[in-house]
Amino acid sequence: MQPQTAEDLADLAIDLGLVTSDQVQRAWSDAGGTGVPIEKFGATLLRRELITRYQLDRLLRGDRVGYYFGDAKILYQVGAGAFARVYRAVMRGSSETVAVKVLRNRFSQDAEKCKEFRREGEMGRLLRHPNIVAIEDVGEANNTSYITMEFVEGQTLRDLVKKRGALDITRTIDLMKQLCAGLEYAHKRGVTHRDLKGSNVLVSTKGAAKLADFGLAAVDKEYGDEVLGRMQSPRTVEYAALEKLTGMKNDNVRSDIYFMGALAYFALTGVSPLGDSRDRAARSDPRRFLDVVPLAKRAPEMPADIRETVTQMMHLEPLERYQSISDVLRVFDGLAEAHAPGGTASKRKARVATAPTASSSTSQPRVMLVERSGQAQDTLRDFLGKLGYRVLVTENAQRALKRFSSTPFPAEGIVFSASKLGQEALEAFNELTADPFYAKVPAVLLISGRQTQFAEQASCDDLRRVISSPIDKATMQETLDSILATKA
Ligand SMILES: Nc1ncnc2c1ncn2[C@@H]1O[C@H](COP(=O)(O)OP(=O)(O)O)[C@@H](O)[C@H]1O
Ligand SMILES: [Mg+2]
Repeated sequence: MQPQTAEDLADLAIDLGLVTSDQVQRAWSDAGGTGVPIEKFGATLLRRELITRYQLDRLLRGDRVGYYFGDAKILYQVGAGAFARVYRAVMRGSSETVAVKVLRNRFSQDAEKCKEFRREGEMGRLLRHPNIVAIEDVGEANNTSYITMEFVEGQTLRDLVKKRGALDITRTIDLMKQLCAGLEYAHKRGVTHRDLKGSNVLVSTKGAAKLADFGLAAVDKEYGDEVLGRMQSPRTVEYAALEKLTGMKNDNVRSDIYFMGALAYFALTGVSPLGDSRDRAARSDPRRFLDVVPLAKRAPEMPADIRETVTQMMHLEPLERYQSISDVLRVFDGLAEAHAPGGTASKRKARVATAPTASSSTSQPRVMLVERSGQAQDTLRDFLGKLGYRVLVTENAQRALKRFSSTPFPAEGIVFSASKLGQEALEAFNELTADPFYAKVPAVLLISGRQTQFAEQASCDDLRRVISSPIDKATMQETLDSILATKA
């Protein structure tokens, strides 16, 4: 029921636990007595900062819910996205400031989906890193689901750049180092972002950069499927469009690297490489990736090492991109030293040469690794890296073959790892000898101890060899040396 008098308003506010009766007593004398008009008393409560405008508006409407989500007392709305609203709030008792993200009504009807949202929130909760916005609590209240998280005092990267224009090089490198560190932490735990964009980067007033909304993209896709009528969700649409163009579906890690590159491009130039369209059809059109103005053209004065790094992150061929965010982080570490204020030109040269930048990678021999498990990918990438190879990773054996069906080959040869892929790896490996089309593609088939039958079924020749685990460095080196035309 809507409060009619100042006293009704006071009772409601006390009843809801927004103010204490002591506070109200003092407010009465300030306002000039209990008989004052309701608007005047409301204004007094605002002036004394006992309640906020958000709370007053709700009180005047007679709302009884929406003031609290769990123990978080909502102060005011700070932003809204496609599927949720974000509020600034304080925790009951501790008065700690938090951000509360509340699912919009149209998404909160489906109990199953709410559960999903909370489950994803729970997963995000496991990510604890200074460059990731920490999720504190996940819950259900007022017929919807919410997440409370660390409140970042500052602004989004999007707003920062919109307001101030392009950031300088040193600031951008620092920002990228922080974001890559956060992303590396998550990728190592098997969590990809899939919604990297300027508004999901929060830059604190103290200069810390943090990634927000980890893991929520996956939930949102679910919502997109059902609520939006089996369409791609509005949030993951960008990633899906890119992957449609490259032919690599759910290419999570490398797609994150692409969009991280897009963030760097945006910070350095003040212009979003993919444009600002809010139109769904435009945003889901794969051709927009072909229209990106090369950084060399957009900012010809930009130092070459920075330009090349960002360009390689945004390479349209996923296998030409950096293959892991750790690689990207290392490059930005090198760039930070090279572009440190007061750094000399010679120092600059030496440092950058050691970083795996686009220019150094062209001379380094490459192998394509086909491996399904993320952890094994890391191990094998390291292993092959130590032997001097740059490693391109894919999870799909047939896709790897396809990449070798046109010249120039994307790599010197293929390493199929069969431990997880099993039959799929063996079949692709054998296709190389069966199909004259692949006559010149060298390959190694790595098999686990339990796959000895594969060794018999594999068709080997001068260019195709089988290695069984445990794999030692010498055997691998020797094998690669003998089959690959270009040696590391
Ligand atoms: N943890 C946070 N701390 C402070 N502000 C936040 C936080 N999370 C989100 N915001 C603000 O809320 C806005 C809306 O967030 P969101 O619903 O995720 O939509 P989007 O990311 O599309 O902008 C953001 O643009 C940002 O301004
Ligand atoms: Mg967001």
